[in-house]
Amino acid sequence: MARPKVYVTRRIVDPWLDFLKQSCDVLLNASDDAPSRQVLLQNVRDADGLLCMLTDKIDVELLEAAQKLVVVGTHSVGYEHINVEEATKRGVYVTYTPDVLTDATADFTWALLLASARRLTEGDRSIRAGEWRIGWAPTFFLSSKVSGKSLGIIGLGRIGQAVARRARGCDMRILYFDTHRATPEVEKETGAVFVSFEKLLKDCDFVTLHVPANEKTRHMIDETALRMMKPSAVLINTSRGTVVDEKALEKALREKQIAAAGLDVFEKEPLPAESPLLKLYNVTLTPHIASADLDSRSKMSELVVQDIISVLRGEMPKALINSDVLSIRPLIRTRRM
Ligand code: GLV
Repeated sequence: MARPKVYVTRRIVDPWLDFLKQSCDVLLNASDDAPSRQVLLQNVRDADGLLCMLTDKIDVELLEAAQKLVVVGTHSVGYEHINVEEATKRGVYVTYTPDVLTDATADFTWALLLASARRLTEGDRSIRAGEWRIGWAPTFFLSSKVSGKSLGIIGLGRIGQAVARRARGCDMRILYFDTHRATPEVEKETGAVFVSFEKLLKDCDFVTLHVPANEKTRHMIDETALRMMKPSAVLINTSRGTVVDEKALEKALREKQIAAAGLDVFEKEPLPAESPLLKLYNVTLTPHIASADLDSRSKMSELVVQDIISVLRGEMPKALINSDVLSIRPLIRTRRM
């Protein structure tokens, strides 16, 4: 059997590209920049497999162009960039990278929460700007306490639960809201109490977002939601930029309707240079790097590569999103090596 062709849209962590090359003919976009739409459409034409990123749109047009495609593996846990329903109809297996980045994302959420509450990056910036003139004073750089306060988790999935475990270490009262109530076991283990969306916003000192991007979660945190929050509240977002109405948040931060925010994700990425958020001192900004510790990114690269190989061998991948595809194109018909 000929070697299958796989198009890889970005460099991944070593040694996983070499591993893929051992069994497949790999065409790599050897850059950290996304390929243009035209290049993407051109390079999938001949591909049996596609290893893509969350910035590559896998829509009807692309699937139509990629007639030989049997597997798309995305190097991400989020998959809102993929038209999964359309892929399923066409017998294309879609895999992703859950679990392996849960701790990394929860660690980073915690870092962002602590940094935003305790004004960490503001302190760093003030020293560098030569503004540290008082050695120490009781009222200098006052900030919000974290330990013992209340945390509201919106979305108690894998990452939300891992954040709750970290909050327990800080003796926090933990409330959560989700479209589905968690099992009693999860509630017991995390110590999180189920409440309404409104109660969570009104009661919590910290609110952290862990929901997927979709039509239901779009602008879930809008002007009305922000008005419900305490003036001392801190909002953290490591999920997706579309969950927050960024204009409304900028206004709420500017007018001190809420105290601070920590954001790793934005409505438009990279954040445009003219974003008014850049002018605010009470927001900590990071460039969508919550899962970017080397161990976790390496595990993501491994999982996505192994799953693409599995499908091309006619074997069950570990992290399949669209299990309905099994009846449309059984694994025996995905074998390309
Ligand atoms: C990152 O945002 C991911 O979805 O993996």
